[in-house]
Amino acid sequence: MTHAFRFHQAGGPEVLKWEEVKLGKPGPGEARIRHTAVGLNFVDIYNRAGVYGVPLPSGLGSEGAGVVEEVGPGVTDLKPGDRVAYGNSPLGAYAEERLIPADRLLKLPDSIDDKTAAAMMLKGLTVQYLIRQTYRVKSGDTILLHAAAGGVGLILGQWAKHLGATVIGTVSTDEKAKLAKAHGTAHTIVYTREDFVARVKEITEGNLVPVVYDSVGKDTFLKSLDCLAPLGVAVLFGQSSGSIEPLNLGLLAQKGSLYVTRPTLNTYGAKRENLAAMANELFDVVKSGAVKIEINQTYPLKDAPKAHADLAARKTTGSTVFLV
Ligand SMILES: NC(=O)c1ccc[n+]([C@@H]2O[C@H](COP(=O)([O-])OP(=O)(O)OC[C@H]3O[C@@H](n4cnc5c(N)ncnc54)[C@H](OP(=O)(O)O)[C@@H]3O)[C@@H](O)[C@H]2O)c1
Repeated sequence: MTHAFRFHQAGGPEVLKWEEVKLGKPGPGEARIRHTAVGLNFVDIYNRAGVYGVPLPSGLGSEGAGVVEEVGPGVTDLKPGDRVAYGNSPLGAYAEERLIPADRLLKLPDSIDDKTAAAMMLKGLTVQYLIRQTYRVKSGDTILLHAAAGGVGLILGQWAKHLGATVIGTVSTDEKAKLAKAHGTAHTIVYTREDFVARVKEITEGNLVPVVYDSVGKDTFLKSLDCLAPLGVAVLFGQSSGSIEPLNLGLLAQKGSLYVTRPTLNTYGAKRENLAAMANELFDVVKSGAVKIEINQTYPLKDAPKAHADLAARKTTGSTVFLV
């Protein structure tokens, strides 16, 4: 017997129940792993709250790190005792142990500890595809990033700076502005009191930006379009403030032949070879010291409901990890 958080109905943090779970043996292509650390992500809130209509009952969480205990038939590249991590698994990371498709697992380099891995896999792989694939950030670009002091935000700011970009980052408080500045963001805008469109115009001397990375959604998205130079790319990759209204595509013409995409890590990381290449780039940039993974909150896994409430209330910065 092992334990995991499961939920039988969508709702607030209180729907998460710590339950006894019986794990069978790993099936073909699967591994059984024992977690040492699990990552908290905003998508866990959407899934718990019913935004994506997850079939119930369900486990929760897609990011974790630990040790392989047993592998199923056909798994040849992993063995018991291997240190592994993952950032795009089927739901079920909020667990002491779990079964998982082995092709989601990445072997961890010795220099990356389990806590750091659980803090960076989902978020760092996301940053990899956002700035290296969706829109390839180049040296000399000035880019706009919302929620720059969040989990994804602190990684994206540092990595984009490392690529030679100037990052303009929005945040809700002065403390978060300070943190974003210490992690790659060159110009911060406190969007709870400043007009970020006006500030982006001012900072770029009217040139605007070629790309905006918007995970806030409802409160920011239409204004994000006004920050884009002609042919700019609006990357809507989340909706922490709520889903956006249906978009009139005519607006994209009016605002300068803009592009909009709504990407997910599940698409970019679906194929094993792509996932492995993305993970190698992430490991390299972390090992080099160019990107530091900031674990600013840790909770025992059993306190996941409290951690959900803190993330939703914008109380967290950087990454949050559950210790198992
Ligand atoms: N599509 C993908 O592949 C993918 C993958 C990973 C993450 N994401 C998305 O990326 C975003 C960041 O994820 P994360 O886990 O790193 O979370 P996070 O950025 O650490 O937390 C969310 C942040 O959003 C900001 N925010 C603005 N309005 C908010 C509101 N009404 N309620 C709550 N937060 C609000 C807050 O920063 P301020 O207080 O500074 O405003 C908050 O700290 C999320 O939207 C997530 O869904 C998408």
